[in-house]
Amino acid sequence: MSLEFSADAQKKIAALCERYPTKQPVVMAALHLAQKDFGHLSDDALRLVASTLGLPYAHVYGVATFYTMYRREPSGKTTIRMCTNISCMLRGGYEVLAAFEKHLGVKKGGTTPNKLFTLIEEECIAACANAPCAIAGTSYLLDLTPDQVPTIIADLEKRPSPESEVV
Ligand code: FES
Repeated sequence: MSLEFSADAQKKIAALCERYPTKQPVVMAALHLAQKDFGHLSDDALRLVASTLGLPYAHVYGVATFYTMYRREPSGKTTIRMCTNISCMLRGGYEVLAAFEKHLGVKKGGTTPNKLFTLIEEECIAACANAPCAIAGTSYLLDLTPDQVPTIIADLEKRPSPESEVV
């Protein structure tokens, strides 16, 4: 294994390990930090998290592959997570998703060739009152309509919003 956590990540993980009696509660934060350091969670990154916390690889793999915020593949600078769950679907979520696909030139799950955007179809993101909605990087986009999409993309091209800024 050749990966190593950054000094900042090592410090944060050590502080979290002191806060809990076991290492399991630290897994999710450590995965976020690994994703921030390495861009995505490769097998080596998962092995690093497992060995750092002294937990089985299978446990770390299980957590990393359960939650959609963990990326197993490289992604664009800004990830757009368009909700198409029931409230958003009923209020035009699929039309907004189609507009993102059209204006980004990629299908859901894809990354633009310039590596600026990854488009994901997401389950409920807990903002149903403002359906249809999406998360772009670290920001919510509420009450979306298809005609807003070109402006949203242009703004994000100028000011990308990496999810890694969450940790
Ligand atoms: S269904 Fe889209 S936010 Fe809940």
